[in-house]
Amino acid sequence: MLDSRTIDIVKSTVPLLESANTALTEHFYRRMFRDNPELKDVFNLSHQKTGRQPAALFSAVLAYAKNIDNPAVLSAAVERIAHKHTGFAIQPEQYAIVGHHLLETIKELAPDAATPEVIDAWAQAYGALAEIFIGREEQIYQGNESKTGGWRGTRAFVVKEKQMESEQITSFLLAPADGGAVADYLPGQYLNLHLDSASLEHKEYRQYSLCQAANGREYRIAIKREPGGVASNFMHDRVQVGDTLQVLPPAGDFFMEVSTNTPVVLISGGVGQTPMRAMLDQLLKQGHQANIHWLHACENGAQHAFNNDMQQRRQAHANLNSHVWYRTPAETDQPAEDYHAEGLMDLNQVKDAIIQHGAHYYFCGPLPFMAMVKEQLSAWGIGDDRLHYEVFGPHQTL
Ligand SMILES: Cc1cc2nc3c(=O)[nH]c(=O)nc-3n(C[C@H](O)[C@H](O)[C@H](O)COP(=O)(O)OP(=O)(O)OC[C@H]3O[C@@H](n4cnc5c(N)ncnc54)[C@H](O)[C@@H]3O)c2cc1C
Ligand code: HEM
Repeated sequence: MLDSRTIDIVKSTVPLLESANTALTEHFYRRMFRDNPELKDVFNLSHQKTGRQPAALFSAVLAYAKNIDNPAVLSAAVERIAHKHTGFAIQPEQYAIVGHHLLETIKELAPDAATPEVIDAWAQAYGALAEIFIGREEQIYQGNESKTGGWRGTRAFVVKEKQMESEQITSFLLAPADGGAVADYLPGQYLNLHLDSASLEHKEYRQYSLCQAANGREYRIAIKREPGGVASNFMHDRVQVGDTLQVLPPAGDFFMEVSTNTPVVLISGGVGQTPMRAMLDQLLKQGHQANIHWLHACENGAQHAFNNDMQQRRQAHANLNSHVWYRTPAETDQPAEDYHAEGLMDLNQVKDAIIQHGAHYYFCGPLPFMAMVKEQLSAWGIGDDRLHYEVFGPHQTL
């Protein structure tokens, strides 16, 4: 429990943090990777280069300082970050390393403001937050371990199928090498791969949304080849059927839990359809009673993954409606069959169908795409409690 003086001192540093902005976390990561280079095998270094992880950490630190007297405001963020951490197998002892570099960063960037009182207050505040994360992460680790088919740490999985789903997206079916069961997950959650190969400069952790409903036997993920991307190109080019991959248990705070009478709208751009596919699969398997809308946008037919599967599902389920946008259809793409509208997704075109009392909206795709979806749905008066989204990278609030 932090005392009121500590809380006041931490809050008084908010203007200082705001003026430093992401220079704070960029400096923090630079010094941490210099002194603890082993952590280059833990963090995604592309997220450092693009600045997305320093930005995510900065928002978390600032939000903590601002709300340190009202931690309930932070609980959703704590939950998301704790799940993310478990996918990187973060251990309690690593919190001391991060804490040390955070305090040294404050001293180095603001030597005048970093009085012993300020440093002491931040040390206590960091310690309190670290304790919350360590406790929650241990609960998640234990939960994963105690599930039927569950485990802790990494487990060897064999690639049973590798299938091209579009020009850029390939799916992988993974089954445990030990032949045992696999833990269930909630639709929307992701799997964590730990890649280690002589062809990679560093070990890499990556998250991939599970793209079918849980079945207790195997996991399916689908990976888009990213230009210049380390892991996605490795998976596309190097990993073959029969290879073994190290896998951490499913995680994530983005998942669907709805009653059978709740209308569900699943909205995706490109490979962002993966978590939606698990949700759809689950809804159809459970014989969902209410309407389901599948809204998807992609470039054209060549980049439209899982198109045949979706068409079959639509024919088999009267309550499943789909609407697909192709940005630039090819001549061979069939209107009304492959796609329904040309150009970027515009929800106004389907507003009457998808505005339904009590409906929940799940969306995933590139950040500008999700910002547009959120803006349109919010403009219709749909509250944040019915809007759910996943960011395929360091989290950003839309
Ligand atoms: C919860 C979650 C679920 C996800 N689910 C899926 C999924 O189902 N399917 C899927 O395909 N992906 C998914 N992802 C994304 C996935 O985890 C990887 O981020 C993705 O595959 C890219 O990894 P990579 O190693 O290929 O690219 P990285 O090497 O991590 O690079 C990422 C991007 O940054 C760019 N980049 C690298 N360095 C620089 C630089 N210096 N300057 C500018 N740009 C640079 C790269 O060109 C690339 O486009 C998910 C992510 C999360 C967090
Ligand atoms: C109180 C301390 C910490 C805070 C506030 C914090 C905050 C964050 C935040 C905000 C994210 C992004 C989450 C998201 O994308 O949803 C994140 C991711 C991550 N954190 Fe932490 N973290 C802390 C401690 C640690 C520690 C001790 C480690 C271990 C070295 C660690 C390793 C990571 C890694 C590897 C990622 C993923 C990075 C990526 O995707 O590039 N964190 N953390």
